[in-house]
Amino acid sequence: MSSISKIIKFMVSVILISVTFLSALVQAKDPPQTSIVYTKHNLSGSLSRWPSPSNTVKAVYEPEICIFCHTPHNANPVQPLWNHELSAVQTYKVYWSNTLQSYTEAESQAWKIDGFSKLCLSCHDGTVAVGSVNSRWEEILMNISNCIDASGKLIPGSGCSGYIGTDLSGGHPISIVYDNSLVSKRNNSNITNSCWLNPPPSNRTSPVKLYPTENQGGGMGVQCTSCHNPHTNRSLEENNGVKWPPFWQGTSYNDVCFVCHYNDCGESYKIWPY
Ligand code: HEC
Ligand code: HEC
Ligand code: HEC
Ligand code: HEC
Repeated sequence: MSSISKIIKFMVSVILISVTFLSALVQAKDPPQTSIVYTKHNLSGSLSRWPSPSNTVKAVYEPEICIFCHTPHNANPVQPLWNHELSAVQTYKVYWSNTLQSYTEAESQAWKIDGFSKLCLSCHDGTVAVGSVNSRWEEILMNISNCIDASGKLIPGSGCSGYIGTDLSGGHPISIVYDNSLVSKRNNSNITNSCWLNPPPSNRTSPVKLYPTENQGGGMGVQCTSCHNPHTNRSLEENNGVKWPPFWQGTSYNDVCFVCHYNDCGESYKIWPY
């Protein structure tokens, strides 16, 4: 072998080794399947290390994933700062039924949606652009599609799951205090459709939790995050042939509902719209 071809051979093997080594490194750094990267909340664009191939709603270029919701200034904080512009909507149409005990009239006792639910609705009520974040001078540019309009806001469309709007009356009650007095009121009432309440969940290790609300004198209550985890979407996986609800806190409907309720809630069970 000539010395030139020896050198070439050596170089090729060095390149091969480093390519193998590098790809091993990249593989080792690939996020786990349960990561936000594989969910509809990965809104990053073409400059991202992990752009979503399947999401309809995503940025044109944006390299970062967390930035849509959290400020980049504190990378691994216990409670990251909120970055998304909040919705100016004050009055949402809320759920009401004549068996509800936490409030007895939806109209005259209308309360404000607050706490973590307000964070979710900052995109999902469709009044604020998805790319409107505090840490950037300009809105993050989003791809326009049947799920998102030219102003960057979520809109209802076929195959789109994000738009909820400001009418929450078809959903579960949120931003309500859930304490022992509500439990005894509900469980001692003459409600025939059952749907009784367990004592308020206080187990910090359970993913189904109560979150602060300022309503009804303030306390711990039900928010969107009691049922949904915005970072992990396991609904892609099959659970005994049934898909889990999107961004679900549990491994089945019952896992989540039955932390708070100790029996079936009737007709609406398993067809909760959001
Ligand atoms: C679509 C919005 C959204 C995106 C994107 C998002 N988060 Fe969050 N994050 C939230 C909300 C809402 C909360 C508060 C509720 C909660 O704790 O689940 C939160 C809470 C957290 C917390 C507090 C600890 C906890 O209780 O879970 C951490 C840490 C966190 N996020 C890290 C991240 C990181 C890192 C990324 C990017 C990889 C990210 N988040 C992307 C919405 C988001
Ligand atoms: C930065 C904007 C933003 C915030 C904040 C946000 N989301 Fe989303 N969410 C989206 C987008 C965009 C989609 C995908 C919409 C689509 O594809 O039509 C989505 C989809 C969803 C879906 C449906 C997923 C599916 O697989 O169909 C759920 C459930 C959801 N979000 C819950 C939440 C909850 C709960 C919070 C608050 C903890 C939250 N989101 C906060 C932007 C946001
Ligand atoms: C974090 C606790 C919590 C979780 C999780 C939860 N609920 Fe509830 N639910 C409540 C509270 C509190 C009320 C309000 C009861 C009242 O005011 O009388 C309520 C009310 C309801 C109502 C209305 C009852 C009425 O009288 O109009 C229905 C229906 C219901 N829940 C079904 C469900 C279903 C189905 C699930 C699971 C998908 C679920 N809930 C998960 C706490 C929870
Ligand atoms: C009591 C539990 C519970 C609460 C609280 C709750 N959700 Fe949901 N959500 C569900 C369930 C269950 C589904 C799945 C419904 C289905 O598959 O038909 C769902 C579906 C969704 C979807 C997808 C809708 C679609 O058409 O596919 C979005 C977006 C969403 N929720 C956002 C929210 C937001 C934002 C909040 C707070 C304002 C919230 N959810 C509060 C249980 C809940």
